[in-house]
This record gives sequence, structure tokens and C-alpha cells, in this order.
Amino acid sequence: MNAARDALPSAGVEESRASVVRLMVPTDANFMGNVFGGSILAEIDRVAFVTAQRHARSTVVTASIDRVDFLQPVHVGDVVDFDARVTWVGRTSMEIWVRVTAEPASGGTRRHVGEAFVTMVAVDASGHPVAVPPLALANDEERRRYEEGRLRAEARGRTRHRSNAPSSR
Ligand SMILES: CC(C)(COP(=O)(O)OP(=O)(O)OC[C@H]1O[C@@H](n2cnc3c(N)ncnc32)[C@H](O)[C@@H]1OP(=O)(O)O)[C@@H](O)C(=O)NCCC(=O)NCCS
Repeated sequence: MNAARDALPSAGVEESRASVVRLMVPTDANFMGNVFGGSILAEIDRVAFVTAQRHARSTVVTASIDRVDFLQPVHVGDVVDFDARVTWVGRTSMEIWVRVTAEPASGGTRRHVGEAFVTMVAVDASGHPVAVPPLALANDEERRRYEEGRLRAEARGRTRHRSNAPSSR
């Protein structure tokens, strides 16, 4: 139970869902013509930011990206689609799932090339965490993703680095 959060009107997954389409150009690539993972990662962070900000209705910061899978190479000339949606919300944090697909600009088969889970935290003007609206779940798929997100968030909390924790070094 969280009074500050539960006082806010809930918002559905589709309300904050965001999608970005990008053509991969030579400056995104290494000498083999494959796109750098970092180029994909930057776009993942941007689209997750948009989704989180839409859900929170306040500014957000990236707290962690604890899982990124690059499933297949992306090439110069591919059109890459980054699809982001909220899977789980805590008090001030949100887990954003970004699914990345690609197809040649000239047309062809769309491939599932990557996936990431990004945790964004809503903050006020001073950078202090603020409560986010509850997530309204519309179907069994969204309920399943929420439960999986909750378990990931718990695992994240257990393993997280804390700057004030005693250092092993
Ligand atoms: C993220 C940040 C706002 C958290 O602030 P904090 O003072 O540690 O706040 P708290 O410990 O109260 O945590 C607030 C929420 O963030 C979550 N959180 C904090 N650090 C996290 C991390 N590394 N990964 C996932 N969640 C995290 C907490 O679980 C908590 O979630 P909840 O409210 O839903 O329960 C702060 O660490 C920060 O500003 N970091 C820098 C963010 C940034 O600049 N990103 C861009 C990098 S260039």
C-alpha cells in the first residue's frame, strides 16, 4: 500500500507506449558494417525515457538498465523500430520493456534483434524521487508481464550497488 501513489489516477500500458523508428547510417556502424551496440542502447534509453515520462507525468531519470540482449546483428541500411511500454511500477520507479525489431529499408523480413529492461525513476525539480501513478492492467498478458517485472524489481533490489554500502575494495 502506498498512499501518495494510490492517490494518483491510474494509467494504462497503452497510454504511455512509445515507438521510435530509426534508419541506421554509416556513423552508427563499425568497420564491418554492423551497428554498434551503443547506438542501439542510446535509442533504447531515449524511447524508455519517453514512455516513463508519459506514465509518470513528471520528469524521469534512468536508474538502471539491468538487462540488454542483442539477439541478432543490425546493419547499416536497416530500419530499426524501438517499442517501449511500462511493465511494472513501484512507488517512484517504473520498469520499461523495450523490444527492438529491424528490417532492411528496401523491405524484407522483420527480425527481432534486441530487448531491454530499463528502470526509470520519476523525480521532482530537485532530483528527488516522486510517486508515480499505479499501472492499470487491461488483460492477462499485461498482468503476466507485471508479475514478471515485480520479480525482476525484487531481484534488482537485492543485488543493487549502494553508494553508502561498505566497499569490498
Ligand atoms: C535514481 C535516483 C533518483 C534514485 O535516488 P535515491 O535517492 O537512491 O532514491 P531511493 O533509494 O529512494 O530510490 C527511489 C526508487 O528508485 C529505485 N532505484 C534506485 N536506484 C535504482 C537502481 N540502480 N536500479 C533500479 N531501481 C533503483 C528504488 O528501488 C526506488 O524505487 P521505488 O520508489 O519504486 O520503491 C538517483 O540514484 C539518481 O539520481 N541517479 C542518477 C540518475 C541519472 O542521472 N541517470 C542518467 C545517467 S547519465
